[in-house]
Amino acid sequence: MLKVGIVGGRAMSFVNAINSRDDAKVTAICDLDEEILNIQAENIGLDKSVRFRIYEDMLDRADIDAVLIATPMQCHVPQAIKALQSGRHVMSEVTAAVTMDELWWLIEAVEKSGKIYMYSENYCYTPEMQTVKAMADAGLFGKIYYAEGEYTHDCTELRNWHGQVGWRSYWQMGTRGAFYPTHSLGPIMQCIPDDKIAEISCFSSGNHNPYGLRNDDTNIVMCRLRSGGLVKIRVDTVSPRPHNLMYYQIQGTGGCFEAPRTGGEHKVAVDTKENPEGHKSWRPLSDFSHLLPERFRSGAGEGAGHGGGDFYIVEDFVNAVNTNTQPFLNVYRAAEWTAVALLSQLSVTNNGRTMEMPDFRPGMSWDEKRIKL
Ligand SMILES: NC(=O)c1ccc[n+]([C@@H]2O[C@H](COP(=O)([O-])OP(=O)(O)OC[C@H]3O[C@@H](n4cnc5c(N)ncnc54)[C@H](O)[C@@H]3O)[C@@H](O)[C@H]2O)c1
Repeated sequence: MLKVGIVGGRAMSFVNAINSRDDAKVTAICDLDEEILNIQAENIGLDKSVRFRIYEDMLDRADIDAVLIATPMQCHVPQAIKALQSGRHVMSEVTAAVTMDELWWLIEAVEKSGKIYMYSENYCYTPEMQTVKAMADAGLFGKIYYAEGEYTHDCTELRNWHGQVGWRSYWQMGTRGAFYPTHSLGPIMQCIPDDKIAEISCFSSGNHNPYGLRNDDTNIVMCRLRSGGLVKIRVDTVSPRPHNLMYYQIQGTGGCFEAPRTGGEHKVAVDTKENPEGHKSWRPLSDFSHLLPERFRSGAGEGAGHGGGDFYIVEDFVNAVNTNTQPFLNVYRAAEWTAVALLSQLSVTNNGRTMEMPDFRPGMSWDEKRIKL
């Protein structure tokens, strides 16, 4: 039984996914805010002895094997490192870190601890993007050389539990560059698991929003892959428009995939025997849902957040711990995808200058852990 402590009381979708399992259970909760702490603890059914306002107290006193970190972005690395140093496994909310130095600290802490670190990029786990991944794995797109991801989410009216303006005004809307890129990148990068981002440039539209926020209205990041391919992402957290958090496009030598931009269905155009016109005609993505791994079709994730994805990501975390194997969403992918945000800040404030991506991998030398200009 994997005993999990939660820090950041609003992670209820993951809590429900953990507690729906026979082999995992939320056994402690921590939140600085006493009101949230008590309400969520009641919801989960945790008594007073396992409720903590101070994170270190939970690590010292609670009977937990792992920590699920769902606090604001700037808390993730300090809390992850403390958990790893106390011998706990970590599942961390997005993004992984808010500075490049934090990424190095995090990687070093994971390597030193030997514990599991999983990056909870749950957008990778939607049924649609899992179907696309299954198609990519089966080679139906051929060699993938171009992709797009977009996260357009007007966050200006998002408020915390008490209706106050929160951390997002600094770490998403108050920071130059594409500071929240991994929902757009993750589902694409999992379709090209052997490729990596080699360099990025970020371009922005200028600041026309009336809120006095530092972020530009729209940020475009061009990512050059090590294979030579290109991934373009748009991150926009202030523009006045309806949300579209999950727009994606993938192009390969064998065909393409497009998510709907404004309604409609997910579509693919690929060369297969069943499709006489091949890549020249669209078919619904659902025609390929038989390729989804069985566990996604079993209905086990029904009702969980993100189309059931929050159930399956928790399942992969529990499996990673049980098999003592770092998951696909390991600390190196977390670092690479998060570094897109951090390097985009430097790029956009230097006229779109190209920034080299470190080659995040086990055992990097001290000299490699730097920002190359
Ligand atoms: N993956 C997704 O789809 C998704 C969606 C929303 C939010 N998030 C991520 O989840 C995290 C939390 O977002 P949110 O919208 O719930 O934020 P929030 O501000 O609404 O809630 C954060 C909670 O953490 C608590 N907290 C803050 N600092 C703390 C500390 N030092 N110790 C203990 N508790 C502390 C706060 O009291 C609050 O209850 C962020 O990293 C965000 O990026 C991810």
